Amino acid sequence: MTAVSGPRPERFSAPVTGDPSRILIVGAGLAGLFLALRLAPRPCTIISPAPLGQAASSAWAQGGLAAALDPRDSPEKHAADTIAAGAGIVDPAVAHLIAQEGPARVRDLIELGVPFDRTADGKLALSLEAAHSMPRVARVAGDLAGKAIMGALTTAVRAASHIELIEHAKAVELLQDTNGRIAGAILKDRHGRVSTFTSPETVLCTGGSGGLYRVTTNPQQARGDALAMVYSAGGVIADPEFVQFHPTAMDVGLDPSPLATEALRGEGAILVGAKGEPFMTNYHADAELAPRDEVARAIHTERAAGRATFLDTRRTVGGHIQDHFPTVFAACMAAGIDPRTSPIPVAPAMHYHMGGILSDIWGRSSLNGLSVCGECASTGAHGANRLASNSLLEAVVMAARIAERIGNEALGIAGASTGLVPADLSDEALQPLRTQMANHCGVVRDAGGLAKLLSFIDQTEHQHGPARTVIAARLIAAGAADRLESRGGHFRSDYPQTQEQATRTFRSLPVTTETVSEAHA
Ligand code: SIN
Repeated sequence: MTAVSGPRPERFSAPVTGDPSRILIVGAGLAGLFLALRLAPRPCTIISPAPLGQAASSAWAQGGLAAALDPRDSPEKHAADTIAAGAGIVDPAVAHLIAQEGPARVRDLIELGVPFDRTADGKLALSLEAAHSMPRVARVAGDLAGKAIMGALTTAVRAASHIELIEHAKAVELLQDTNGRIAGAILKDRHGRVSTFTSPETVLCTGGSGGLYRVTTNPQQARGDALAMVYSAGGVIADPEFVQFHPTAMDVGLDPSPLATEALRGEGAILVGAKGEPFMTNYHADAELAPRDEVARAIHTERAAGRATFLDTRRTVGGHIQDHFPTVFAACMAAGIDPRTSPIPVAPAMHYHMGGILSDIWGRSSLNGLSVCGECASTGAHGANRLASNSLLEAVVMAARIAERIGNEALGIAGASTGLVPADLSDEALQPLRTQMANHCGVVRDAGGLAKLLSFIDQTEHQHGPARTVIAARLIAAGAADRLESRGGHFRSDYPQTQEQATRTFRSLPVTTETVSEAHA
């Protein structure tokens, strides 16, 4: 850590007040909304940074939910594919649990009104995506699953009397008592007004970290703030170096980048160079349907050699792209590309954070009073390379488990609490950090680049203070620098081998009784 010359963090304190049974849910994506609904009749409050349903990555999801819904499929096969894709560090117990409970959660979403695509005889129409051994992805109107699911859940949440909604606010810090127990959060509204919210259980459902990277498919506000808050409070962060780059973000100069869903490759679309020449068979026997990390690296390699890369949907998807993939079609047309007549320029982009706040199988973090759900959590389900369409599934399975646990458990009581709020990074300071993250901690990494990045992060902290963004970026970069092997989404050109012994990474501050008391002094 460097000595800091930027703005000093501001301290806020909260007495023990508020409704002692009300659960605080920070974040309003799929995990937060599904959890709130499952908590009924227990009162809960959702903190949403934007009007409900907007600005959550879940609403942008083009894929759907992978689940063993076909009689020829089974949770065992789904778990086996999840474990194989995860490159050695998926927790098999978690993979099995999610695969087992997944089909029931998809049925819950159907009951909530999600209109999953059906075959002519009324069965769920299931799509094939990379590294799945059979079609098992339930989708809506081709590529509109996220929007349709969030639409149905938003309606249900607005109608639920046990749910209070605070829109246009975000959590900027956790409240912690002298024993280290989390007692709620410090909130900031859109006018910059700060307030405290105490709760017997706080659940972080804040999404991912893509906004830390120059090129991402996530909303820019998803910058890993929750990871930084939990780390600063003494909690454990797992596998932060494992970032998933989606191979086929559209390379059309937009920030965030629109996605060309993997289902297009599932339907036969091919990756080609500028003259239409396919190249994936040079890299992997499964070509376009190889695991996501392999496809992202192949495209990265082509581009690093100065060769342009495109996704050609013309032959297999053809004119159907307009009806079957309306989001992709609209994004292409808005960028001046007609995918019925031209291939789509594509490049890898930061898409999903496999690492995150350590979570057990009931969604508990390592800090008392704090649970985590969705992309900000690391349950061990995704390992080093998440299997496509497993993230929405994990979010609903874990949200249901957290609600079940909270319903059955006597919740603890925190004492008077406090929290230190660091200043945000200005946009002027953030943009160079995003560029450095993309350049040095992207699809391919090495010791020299990571050392440059870590030194840049230290300088940024020195000049601008210990902003959440800086701490989250350092967690990812330091994890990548320390992992001296290549595994899944983490590829080191200086350590291309995968070590025989697969290990997860756990990072935390050395928090002692003295440091907790100092924070309260
Ligand atoms: C996609 O549709 O390609 C993305 C799905 C996912 O990230 O699981």
